[in-house]
Amino acid sequence: MSLCIELTGKTAIVTGGSSGIGLSISQVLLKAGARVIIIDIDEKRFISVKDEIEKISPEFDFYEADIKNSEKISETIQKIISKESKIDILVNNAGIVKDGLLIRMSDEDWLDVINVNLNGMFYITKNVLKHMFKAKSGRIISIASVIGEIGNTGQANYAASKAGIIALTKSIAKEYAARGILANAIAPGFIKTVMTDKLPEDIKDAIKKGIPLNKIGEPYDIANAVLFLCSELSGYITGSVMNVNGGMYM
Ligand code: NAI
Repeated sequence: MSLCIELTGKTAIVTGGSSGIGLSISQVLLKAGARVIIIDIDEKRFISVKDEIEKISPEFDFYEADIKNSEKISETIQKIISKESKIDILVNNAGIVKDGLLIRMSDEDWLDVINVNLNGMFYITKNVLKHMFKAKSGRIISIASVIGEIGNTGQANYAASKAGIIALTKSIAKEYAARGILANAIAPGFIKTVMTDKLPEDIKDAIKKGIPLNKIGEPYDIANAVLFLCSELSGYITGSVMNVNGGMYM
């Protein structure tokens, strides 16, 4: 087994690949030689980063789709399969936040977050699994969060959705291990992206103080963990949650 990670010949789907962590995952997988198919709700955002991606490799494609729309996702995966003929890796990364205290949280904010973060993962995974099942191999890596493990004030919807991702991952791992399909989650801590840039500086400073490594993570910290979980080097890991958080709250 080579100790160098090489994904040439592999096809990966990355949801939410137009920005932040998903963009970095797409770039790292392309650098490793994979073909990368990005699914994202925001085509404009994808167009704004397309040149950056193209500099690494032309081996990518983009599909505009809302992952919470079950029918659209089923259609999109069908289109991808008929063009690519196979999917080796699925990275469930797209996610949103709609923060607020529970007693003031609207049903809409609760449902939006659960629908995108958790139901979206279900719709995509179910459709992709059918193909991995036939191929008797596959890697599914889903981006949860430290908040899904410890909870957070003002993020009940987000914490519940991320805890759901962990439970869904462990169930997929058990259900499909015999078919050679490995499913793992990554629980990032605080990572510098547009999702976290919105927070006021004093809150960011307070969060940083709670991180033993004393720095906010970068998107590539998560992308590198995804790369490992896609590789041959992680062939005996399934149903696990990898914490990538600088030691935060552990
Ligand atoms: P981001 O906001 O920079 O990127 C999210 C991407 O998902 C965007 O390209 C967006 O267009 C896409 N997206 C959103 N809703 C979608 C939908 N319904 N259908 C298809 N695409 C959709 O966010 P970031 O920070 O890169 O987060 C990526 C993942 O990492 C999320 O699941 C997030 O919960 C998770 N995470 C992020 C942390 C952080 O500190 N930034 C910490 C822990 C987890």
